[in-house]
Amino acid sequence: MVEAVRVHKLGGPEVLTYETIGSRPPGPSEIRIRTTAIGVNFIDVYFRTGLYASDTPFIAGKEAAGVVEEVGEGVTDFRVGDHVASATLSGSYATELTAPAAVFVKVPDGISDETAAAMMLKGMTARYLLRRTFKVGPEHTILFHAASGGVGSIATQWAKHLGATVIGTVGSEEKAKLAKKNGVDHTILYRTEDFVQRVAEITGGAKCDVVYDSVGQQTWKGSLDCLKPLGLYVLFGNSSGAVTDFNPSLLAQKGSLFMTRPTLFGYTAKREDLIETANDLFDVVKSGAVEIPIGARFALKDAADAHRALESRGTTGSTILIP
Ligand SMILES: NC(=O)c1ccc[n+]([C@@H]2O[C@H](COP(=O)([O-])OP(=O)(O)OC[C@H]3O[C@@H](n4cnc5c(N)ncnc54)[C@H](OP(=O)(O)O)[C@@H]3O)[C@@H](O)[C@H]2O)c1
Repeated sequence: MVEAVRVHKLGGPEVLTYETIGSRPPGPSEIRIRTTAIGVNFIDVYFRTGLYASDTPFIAGKEAAGVVEEVGEGVTDFRVGDHVASATLSGSYATELTAPAAVFVKVPDGISDETAAAMMLKGMTARYLLRRTFKVGPEHTILFHAASGGVGSIATQWAKHLGATVIGTVGSEEKAKLAKKNGVDHTILYRTEDFVQRVAEITGGAKCDVVYDSVGQQTWKGSLDCLKPLGLYVLFGNSSGAVTDFNPSLLAQKGSLFMTRPTLFGYTAKREDLIETANDLFDVVKSGAVEIPIGARFALKDAADAHRALESRGTTGSTILIP
């Protein structure tokens, strides 16, 4: 039998219900895997609360690593025993899952299943943000909010590897230390400091080429004031709540700015993009340029505690569930 964490009605962490469900054999083009490590992401919170729409009941989670146990008809890319991972599953909080083979990639030797589960969604996000949404290089100064979180820890290391000057906001002194360890040049304690003013000071008034904002409601307005004329505002999350009152005229007033609201799912919808993005991530991790910090591990049955920790800003780096 399969143990899974399901949501029957939307709500707080307490709606995550650990229960036994049936196993499903793979249909054509599908594989069945036994999960070995499962990634926890803020998007799991959005689906649990209903900020992102989904029919109930559903199995929570998008990201997992595991071992292939069965392949369906027509699957040629994977064999029984392969270590695989995915960041775009419809329900990853389970001891076993069956899904289209096309959403998986093989995990190369030298990368553990725990590391894979900790990095596929967050690391591929960092990759498209820094290499496609905006091509970050040594000539750029970037502001990355929540710099010591899951995506933030990976993206800031990667941005330093690309040679950028990195400014990172963080929620505490302890998180500032972690961000500095990850190479962030300047940290800002945005719960107590005015980050707009600090960015102006740090850059001598020149401001940033790009702002990466996953905090949303509490940071979007100030973020626009941290950009140079013609700079790019990348809103890619809602950790503090969704941005609902955005007026496009602000982009004109603040210096002919650009704005985008990207998703990993959009950037990896084509199989070739998924493979390229994953391979680039595997390369920077295997080379040692980017480390994947796992800040906390929870048993799968304690998924609700993992959500409580994430939502209360109590985590750093990646959080994983162990089935
Ligand atoms: N669009 C995409 O493709 C995509 C893909 C992956 C992730 N994301 C987004 O990226 C963000 C980071 O995801 P993650 O899973 O790696 O999470 P995370 O960064 O580990 O956790 C979120 C962090 O946001 C900060 N935060 C600020 N205000 C908050 C509030 N009111 N409540 C909770 N947290 C708050 C906290 O850091 P401080 O204490 O330092 O402020 C917290 O640790 C999320 O918004 C997620 O939705 C988007």
